Amino acid sequence: MESIVVRGGRPLNGTLRVQGSKNSALPILAACVLTDGVCVLNNCPVLTDVGAAVKILRCLGCRVTRAGHTLTVDARDVSCDCIPFALMREMRSSIVFLGAMLSRLGRAKLCAPGGCEIGARPIDLHLAALRTLGVQVTDCDGALDFRVTKRLRGAVIRLPFPSVGATENVMLAAVFADGQTTVLNAAREPEIEDLARFLNACGCRVHLCAGGTVVINGVRRAHGAEHTVIPDRIAALGTMAATAACGGDVTLTDVVPAHFQSVHRVFLRAGCRLDVKADTLRIRSDGRLRAVGTICTLPYPGFPTDAQAAVMAMLCTAKGTSRMTETIFERRFNHVPQLQRMGAHIKIKGNAAVISGVTRLHGAAVCAGDLRAGGALVAAALAAEGVSTITGVHHIDRGYEDPEGQLRMLGADIERSGGSGNETAESE
Ligand code: UD1
Repeated sequence: MESIVVRGGRPLNGTLRVQGSKNSALPILAACVLTDGVCVLNNCPVLTDVGAAVKILRCLGCRVTRAGHTLTVDARDVSCDCIPFALMREMRSSIVFLGAMLSRLGRAKLCAPGGCEIGARPIDLHLAALRTLGVQVTDCDGALDFRVTKRLRGAVIRLPFPSVGATENVMLAAVFADGQTTVLNAAREPEIEDLARFLNACGCRVHLCAGGTVVINGVRRAHGAEHTVIPDRIAALGTMAATAACGGDVTLTDVVPAHFQSVHRVFLRAGCRLDVKADTLRIRSDGRLRAVGTICTLPYPGFPTDAQAAVMAMLCTAKGTSRMTETIFERRFNHVPQLQRMGAHIKIKGNAAVISGVTRLHGAAVCAGDLRAGGALVAAALAAEGVSTITGVHHIDRGYEDPEGQLRMLGADIERSGGSGNETAESE
């Protein structure tokens, strides 16, 4: 079985370029479908989730090639209106292809998406919003059939919760709608802004207003464009958490620290030193952390749920008691029993975790149950005394590009065993 083996207890030192954002690349790849041209996307990370998106693009009729971190998507011949069950099940983000397919083809057939096991992940908000724009939805034993008769019509949509995926889907569906669409209580994540920048580069008219309002004015067509995906704030935070826990001095480059400003103060409270510039961030830690009080995950600009697991791993050895409350997903403590195997003292009460810092974690055989849990286990293993073996590596490969290679550059003793790595994430 494939595993990542870590001999922990070494400080991390050096400079690391942060990968492109997975959560930005995926909806932008979906957005290529609504163009009738060729799109060039720079800074696309090599990940199995990106590989799954490429498979969907090809299935819909796009020609996709990769050169390094640049993906070229030729969407001139998009014709297929169906995403097979197996591809939908590979990742949750497959659902954002829906909005783009409806814009381009006026119809789509698919089923509910798969993704990480972190609680129920319904698509009711997506469906309600699309219905408001005039999409007809038929559910035949889980096979969903979407149709647009004539054109979609602009509307005012208030999301009951600022869902990232639902906001992206409405943006993609509304770009060719008649008139104006206004999305209220929309998600405000940096990835939404990146998608809007790409759509506007393609000739669409998407305007992000303060306070979570998105205004989309319908246009007749979208052309191809070149775009550079933003840096991955969650990958950056994972490296920061590992550095904080291990001790060391790491400079992250090609990053936008403003995208995770809400988390800076957590590292400062824990006793780390941060030097923040426009596109670099240096973190220094002596490895002796302090507890940080209470953290609550929230929609952007709040503390990101995707960073909860890695920051919890770092707090396991912080002196004192920290609390983390998860408000976005109902089952996002997959990493807790695994951290406990490494000696962590964590108690779960409902959606809250109480972390009592211990002096040191010890190496153990642990299993990643979802993507961000995997990132957290790697961070914990790097800080732990002794050898850890992490299985469930396929989850990690969904979102972290070459994690062993990256961390080895910082002095970590980490290797993959029993597999070929994720370099072949996309078969091109
Ligand atoms: C995106 C991110 C994911 C991140 C999450 C929250 C991508 C590819 N993934 O996921 O990494 O953790 O945002 O920041 O960008 N919900 C409903 N009904 C819906 C839609 C969502 O009840 O129709 C609920 C979900 O079950 C969840 C919450 O809303 O509890 C947040 O979901 P959402 O913001 O939609 O997350 P994703 O877009 O799936």
